Amino acid sequence: MPVFLACSGGKGEKADQMDALIINGPAKLSGKVRISGSKNTALPLFFSSLLFDEPVHYENVPRLWDVETTLSLLHSMGTESSWDKETGKVTVHPLVKKRVAPYEWVKKMRAGILALGPLVAKYGEAKVSLPGGCAIGARPVNFHIDALRKLGAQVEVKEGYIHASVPSRLKGAPISFPEVTVTGTENLLIVATQAEGETILQNSAREPEVVALGNLLQSLGARIEGLGTPTIRIWGSKLNAPARPISIPPDRIEAGTWIAIAMATQSELELENCPVGEMESVLEVFRRIGAQFEMSPKRDLMTIYPRPPYKAVDIDTQPYPGFATDMQAQAMAVLCLAQGKSRMRETIFENRFMHVAELRRLGAQIEIDGNSAIIAGPVMLQGAPIMATDLRASASLMVAALAAKGQTRISRIYHLDRGYQRLDEKLRRLGADITRVTE
Ligand code: EPZ
Repeated sequence: MPVFLACSGGKGEKADQMDALIINGPAKLSGKVRISGSKNTALPLFFSSLLFDEPVHYENVPRLWDVETTLSLLHSMGTESSWDKETGKVTVHPLVKKRVAPYEWVKKMRAGILALGPLVAKYGEAKVSLPGGCAIGARPVNFHIDALRKLGAQVEVKEGYIHASVPSRLKGAPISFPEVTVTGTENLLIVATQAEGETILQNSAREPEVVALGNLLQSLGARIEGLGTPTIRIWGSKLNAPARPISIPPDRIEAGTWIAIAMATQSELELENCPVGEMESVLEVFRRIGAQFEMSPKRDLMTIYPRPPYKAVDIDTQPYPGFATDMQAQAMAVLCLAQGKSRMRETIFENRFMHVAELRRLGAQIEIDGNSAIIAGPVMLQGAPIMATDLRASASLMVAALAAKGQTRISRIYHLDRGYQRLDEKLRRLGADITRVTE
């Protein structure tokens, strides 16, 4: 079994190498594709290993740069880990020597903020770099900090770092998040399991990733009620180390991205290991645009039937169970092909339209008005050189490039590799004319 040490420059590819993808469209795809493990579920589950002293085993881990970065960040704290990238098995031995999540790693992946909760819960102290902003917004973490203070932690922000300590004991308290925050809910879920008494998280995130973390904590002895609802109650309890490997569930955003790809190329595709139960709002939107879906009896096999001509629709992104902001860019690429004017309103992030300028280079007719984008269609997209700016924007450009006539070159494709496991290889197997080149 080939085992790559994820952290000490094992055989992992170089994340900094500026790969590009060359796509010749329009593509016609056919076949079956297996949905990989969910990035946004894997990350909090990896950071929760900091709660334990014994090795924690994981399965079905997606092959992503963000997983590489997470293991490197944990390694910088003293943990040992091994990652068999072929089988998707990871072991993390959380021998924490430094309760510090350094800027060099957190700046690469904002989700490094997820080290804060487990360190405070386990050790009563943490020094975690402020994540800083990213392409889609300022991404503050004030809700995390305010909530920690309510549980009795002393938190100071200085010199770009969050310094947290627990002078006596964490004590449960009522907390109400001003806005729904996914990683904020995840951090506080973890800390509250180690706080004396009851904690109530009001306006908490309902995302499946949060529920998966809560379910793991419950299986280890935590007393938690209300997972998946806006109010979660947690009582302090002793946690046992995981006795069995933790399997990463499939990625609902990857699955949604495949629906966009199928519709943009008018291809019938079969998705295996598809988390249909977590995709209601995404399925509803794509049905309105023009698609039908057939689920297998055991519900993890879904066939997509595109039904052009596509209709223009209005979409607002919302916290789960609403239409996911992580699907906004991909849906916009499909709306370029719909008849009429669509309005896409981004209600979660203040700058998540970076893909619009690049889509326009392919011929899209999109006007931005505040946090709304008006997409006029249908347009005949034409291939052109374009650039990825963030993870889901790069997925959107891929969707559009597959529909566009002619050659498209998407540069800075490491953005895509952060959150999608070898999407270009999966596409090639379905018949796409797509080549990866190093710039
Ligand atoms: C998580 O980010 C996801 N990342 C994001 O996915 C996703 O887009 C986002 O949730 C929304 O669903 C992971 O799970 C690793 P938030 P997170 O805290 O937790 C504001 C991807 O593509 N806010 O729910 O960082 C914030 O600015 C990534 O995989 C504060 O103001 O997002 C935003 O406007 C991108 N203060 C809104 O709340 C805070 O303390 C929601 O952010 C926290 C958040």
